[in-house]
Order: sequence, then C-alpha cells, then structure tokens
Amino acid sequence: MRPGRRRQSKAAAATPADPARVDRLPYYCAVELFRVTGGTRLVGEVTVGGAKNSVLKLMAAALLAEGRTVLTNAPRILDVTIMSEVLRRLGCTVGVNGETITIDTPAEPGTEADYDLVRRMRASICVLGPLLTRCGKVKVAHPGGDAIGSRGLDMHIAGLQRMGAEVTSEHGFVIAQADRLHGATIWLDFPSVGATENILTAAVLAKGTTVIDNAAREPEIVDICAMLTEMGARIYGAGTSTLEVEGVDALAPVIHRTVPDRIVTGTWAFAAAITRGDVTVRNAEPSHLEIALDKLRTAGAEVDLLGPGEGFRVRMDPRPRAVDVVTLPYPGYPTDLLPMAIALAAVADGPSMITENVFDARFMFTNEMVRLGADVRTDGHHAVVRGKEWLSGAPVRATDIRAGAGLVMAALRAAGVTEVAAVYPIDRGYPDFVAQLRGLGAEIERVTVPDDEMSFDF
Ligand code: EPU
Repeated sequence: MRPGRRRQSKAAAATPADPARVDRLPYYCAVELFRVTGGTRLVGEVTVGGAKNSVLKLMAAALLAEGRTVLTNAPRILDVTIMSEVLRRLGCTVGVNGETITIDTPAEPGTEADYDLVRRMRASICVLGPLLTRCGKVKVAHPGGDAIGSRGLDMHIAGLQRMGAEVTSEHGFVIAQADRLHGATIWLDFPSVGATENILTAAVLAKGTTVIDNAAREPEIVDICAMLTEMGARIYGAGTSTLEVEGVDALAPVIHRTVPDRIVTGTWAFAAAITRGDVTVRNAEPSHLEIALDKLRTAGAEVDLLGPGEGFRVRMDPRPRAVDVVTLPYPGYPTDLLPMAIALAAVADGPSMITENVFDARFMFTNEMVRLGADVRTDGHHAVVRGKEWLSGAPVRATDIRAGAGLVMAALRAAGVTEVAAVYPIDRGYPDFVAQLRGLGAEIERVTVPDDEMSFDF
C-alpha cells in the first residue's frame, strides 16, 4: 500500500471533518480505468451502431402499445441495460440479443419508476409522456442535475399541464395524472430534446391536435417520429421547429431500426483529426453532422463522403489548425461533441474560442484536460484554448460520457501514460470502446486496479 493511502476505517469515517486526519477521510475508488499510452496515429475503419439518445426513447415509446416491439441496430451499451431494467420494473419483458431489443409490453404497465434507476440514467424520465397518456397516471423520480448542468424539467411539466395533466412534485417524485390528455398549443422556451419527446409521446394518444412550437429538430426526434408514425400516430413536421400531432385512440407495436449514432460518429471523426490519423467511419450518417465535419475541414482535415450508406473518411496531416466552435441545438454544432472540440483545440496550432450554449456546467471537465497539460481557460459560456504540439499523460477522471471520450482522445496525443478513471460513464455511451480504439492502432487497455494502488482519488 502506498504511503498516505489507508483503507477507510469506521473510526476515520466518524471524524471526516478533522483536517489533521485528512489521510483518513472517506474516499471512493474506481477499480476500473482506461490506461492509454499516447502518440499513436489512429488508422483504419470503425463501424458505428445505433444512437444511444434515440434507442432509449424508442424503448420508452414501446410502452405506448400492448404487444411486441422490436428495435434493431441498437447499440450495446450500459444505458440500454439500465433502460431494459426500467421497463422490466414497469412489467415489460425485455430481451437484448446483440443489436436487437425485443420488448413485450403488457396491457397494463406499471406506472412508477424509482430513484434507484433514474439516478443512474437521467433518460429514464422519458417514460413520463408514454405512461401518462397510456395509463392516466405516472410517478417518476426527479433525476436532478448532473455533471454537465442543472437539467430542468419545467418545460416537460408545463407542456403536460397545458394538455390537462395535474402535475405535482412530492418527496423527490414527479407525479402526473389525467383521465385523458387533450390537444394544446405549446411553445417551448428552448428546443429541449427531452421536453419535445415527452410532450410528443403524450400527444400521440391525446384527444385532439397538439402543436409543439420551437420543438427540437435532432435526428433522434425524427427517428422517434418515424417509429410513432409506423405505430399509427399522426405526426406532421418531424425535423422542423413545429410539430403537429393529431391524437389517435390506440397504437400498435412495430419493428424499427435505430438511427446511427451521430455523436459516436463525430467522436471517431475528431479522433482521426486529433491524432493526425486516417479513419473511415462506416454505418454513419454524415448529413447529421454537417457543421462538425465542416469544422474539421476548416482545421485542415480532408473529409471524403463515400457515397450513400458507405460512411466517410477523415484524414489529418500535419497539425490541425485552431478553429472556433459554438454549440447550439441541432442543426448547430452538438454540445455532446464539445469535449472533442476542446481536445482538438488543445493540440491545434493557435488559439480557439469554444462557446457552450446548451448546458451550464459542460466546461467542468476542462479541469481534467488541464491535468493533461492543456492550456484551457473558461469564463462563463466561453473557453479559450491555446493549442500545444503535445499534451502530457496524467491520471484524470471522466465526469460524464462525453468528457470521458474527449479525455481519451486527448490522451492519445499526450506523451506517456494517461489513466482515465472511471470507465463507467464511457461504457454508458460507447460500445466496444477499447476494442474499436485498439482496432485503429491505439495503445489502450482496460485495467482493474486494486483500490490501494489507485493513482486517483475521487
Ligand atoms: N432544460 C430546461 N428545462 C427543461 C428541459 C431542458 O431548463 O424542462 C434545459 C436543460 O437544463 C439544458 C437545456 O435545456 O440546459 C437542453 O436540455 P435538453 O432537454 O435539450 O437535453 P436532454 O433531453 O436532457 C438530450 C441528450 C443529451 C444531449 C442533449 C442536447 C438524451 C438522453 N440526452 O438531453 O445527451 O446533450 O439532449 O442535445 O437524449 C449525452 O448523450 O451525453 C447527453 C448528455
């Protein structure tokens, strides 16, 4: 055991505030981490799976119809496992077989999603709309904020209230009820993805027509609209700022293919640029990433589209040029690719200004980038990054899914060894992450470290 590292004893836990005994403060250790040796150019091919931020909502939408829903092209990620458990506890039978998910929804699903699962995955809140409209009541634990921001629910709730729901917040739960929702016109203050989805999935079985103005336009919204339409819903304007939904009395289950994951796609594209590599991304939809790919071109990358269904190829040689990036709701530059933009800026030639407009704490993880030697200064919504030829390996911590992936990308361009703890957030969103990186030539391994050997404390 290293000096200063002692296993927590009951006595130490009882006196955590004593600064003289700081070495005995309770601490929690991740036992799994990614160990990355920097310096390799990524070269080769990767294949992208279905979108995390679509499939979770499609799974929740299965609650809208009794019978068997089948989702194909599903990503093999931890969040699918968690969402499967959410649905099982609501009475569904869920089978996951490779990239296919089968959900058997009963005539009368349960109506309560507890905190234990919702805290693990905020997307559990997307059962709110389907259960309220199908069962007339729902009780879902309030997920609270997380490492990227405060993440309110006010627009979800105001929209459902406008449709006739009574919504209260009690003991950490959002509780909603309505005999049958009615159509309404709802103006969103911001094109929130989650609020658009909850209102949309409630509106499909409401009485009358609902209009959602300033709706989110993300490809994942278009995907759920496509699935709901296949189920018998009447939705007009998918992919535009105005969604019109004529409620119907019942929906039928369907087989639906999940849209490719544009954030995973973008992560690989940036990885190619950051490492000055040459990566072909298959099963991707480059039209969902136009601004991000344009930023890479501006940075000096060659981006070649390989024809319908073939994906695209990104090559970067020599050093990337600095580019400014501003995140915005779709079709703007995605906030989920902000960590990759920071990683690129950290090794680019010149200063970049990165502006975040969606979440209020997305820059939190930049402290970890600084540990890797990145020159990043943040002020409110802005970060100024002055690029360096090389970063320098260090122990860092993944605070959310995308920060974790961004840190690994930066580690690939860091001299020496970087340990990224913990792997859990990355597992939530990136299927076969280590295998895919190794396939591209990266030196990365997933290691389990005994807790007294951890080089990182939380
Ligand atoms: N907001 C409110 N009130 C609301 C709803 C949202 O203030 O009622 C605010 C949020 O606090 C945030 C902003 O609006 O500042 C945008 O939130 P939005 O509702 O659009 O995001 P979300 O639905 O919670 C989804 C993705 C995120 C992705 C965002 C933006 C899922 C499961 N999550 O979150 O993905 O960043 O849209 O595109 O779909 C990720 O995959 O790592 C991830 C964080």
